[in-house]
Amino acid sequence: MAAARAPNPPTAPLQQRMPAERTPPPLVLVIFGATGDLARRKLIPSLYSLFSAGLLPKGFQIIGFARERLTDQQFCETMRSALEEFTAAPVPETWNRFAARLSYIGGVFEDESGFKLLAERLEEFDAERGTAGNRLYYLAIPPFAIEEVVNQLGRADLVYEYDDRAWSRIIIEKPFGRDLESACELNAVLNRIFHEQQIFRIDHYLGKETVQNLLVFRFANVVWEPIWNRQFVDNIQITVAETVGVERRAGYYEGTGALRDMVQSHLLQLLTLVAMEPPSSYDADSIRNEKHKLLCAVRPITAENVGSETARGQYEKGTIAGDSVPAYRQEPGVAADSTTETFAALRLWVDNWRWAGVPFYLRTGKRLPERASEITIRFRPAPHPILDAVDGDRPAPNLLVLRVQPEEGISLRFEAKMPGLAGPLRPVKMHFTYEDAFGVRSPGAYERLLLDAMLGDATLFARRDEVEGAWSLITPILRGWRELGEPPLQTYPAGSWGPTAADDLLEQDDAHWRRPQGHTPTKVETE
Ligand code: BG6
Repeated sequence: MAAARAPNPPTAPLQQRMPAERTPPPLVLVIFGATGDLARRKLIPSLYSLFSAGLLPKGFQIIGFARERLTDQQFCETMRSALEEFTAAPVPETWNRFAARLSYIGGVFEDESGFKLLAERLEEFDAERGTAGNRLYYLAIPPFAIEEVVNQLGRADLVYEYDDRAWSRIIIEKPFGRDLESACELNAVLNRIFHEQQIFRIDHYLGKETVQNLLVFRFANVVWEPIWNRQFVDNIQITVAETVGVERRAGYYEGTGALRDMVQSHLLQLLTLVAMEPPSSYDADSIRNEKHKLLCAVRPITAENVGSETARGQYEKGTIAGDSVPAYRQEPGVAADSTTETFAALRLWVDNWRWAGVPFYLRTGKRLPERASEITIRFRPAPHPILDAVDGDRPAPNLLVLRVQPEEGISLRFEAKMPGLAGPLRPVKMHFTYEDAFGVRSPGAYERLLLDAMLGDATLFARRDEVEGAWSLITPILRGWRELGEPPLQTYPAGSWGPTAADDLLEQDDAHWRRPQGHTPTKVETE
């Protein structure tokens, strides 16, 4: 009789080791740029939502810091209208309690008197509200202002040593630099005043529930790991499609473009999570070590091949969901001869044992036909087909689609026999959607990330080497585009799936982009 197989030694599943909801210690959150778009759209609504859910500590205070001269009362009113505009009217009783924790300092970042006042207010709150000396600085400001604020914080003695009893941390918004050189300079500026463990570089994609679930999906289930490699995977596609145009952000977007705005941050983050090796535990450094290792394994695109490995485009006027929309060059604030790309696509190769020879196709664009972010893992076809699909075609390969947004979920396509005596094969889908499975609202990305920063959990924030690793891949592409003009910037009609060069990129490999289809059940999936 064969010996019984020894059971695996007990280990805690990843889910159990993921952080449970905890209340952060007392603190003051200082938002620089508190009257700006980000604070009004995302930060204050997320803080209000955390507060309503009872997830903020008793000793908690927010100080808004911006150029406008406002009283505390006027600041509160502005934030209340922001909630009404971007989420919903707050519950009056909860709002009153929340508003009691909002205060404001008007000052320009170049003037140190504002920072002296900030130091005084912080001490007052420690004494009156029990905020225990802990400070979280949120820089919701344009990149050019970061150095000034960081230096002023240092000069006003508002940053503690890393191992002090009370703590100070800083959250930096993207874009983190414009290229490798400026990102390194920014890191040097930050590291003169803050220890790396005190720096939280935010990428809101990491705060999305579906993105976090990628780790659980891969590492808390045993069935995927054996097929998650070059032996079984034909190609991986990452699409982040938006229907919106540049909106009112031309001032920022004109000098940025899709490659810096989306690929350097969000798409490369998705790539690292889908392709990295299993970390040894769910802690910030184990995960970030693996992500960094993966970025180092991506073959850089160089001036020689930038023309064949990338595509870029800019939207022309067109129609989205029946509405006519203007060309990018006609948007307010955009130059009439702008060459900023609103669409970017890349073919990347990961040079390691797991992925050698598997192409990773990444694309993102504005004014595409639908809003959809998804990762598609296309498996190899069955090695020796013995059965016919519909119309005698070869059976369709298996497809695993991880849908980041909207209609968040996962679907798996496989072949099934059509009922009937001589039924041929036909692809069908199995779906999981968050909405059906859990029926609860997922916390917004900023809620998760703000809470994590208050708790000092940096797992979902980019580390210095990760950001620099991502820029090392993006900077040569930017240079190739700028200096060689390769590949040329194509236009695409708003409401289409981007320039033809993006299709050509895949045709080299006899592949094509999968059209995002969400989880709406379709009888037969087309690609
Ligand atoms: C931001 C970009 O980081 O992400 C925007 O600056 C983009 O240009 C946005 O529209 C997309 O985020 P989401 O969460 O809507 O996919």
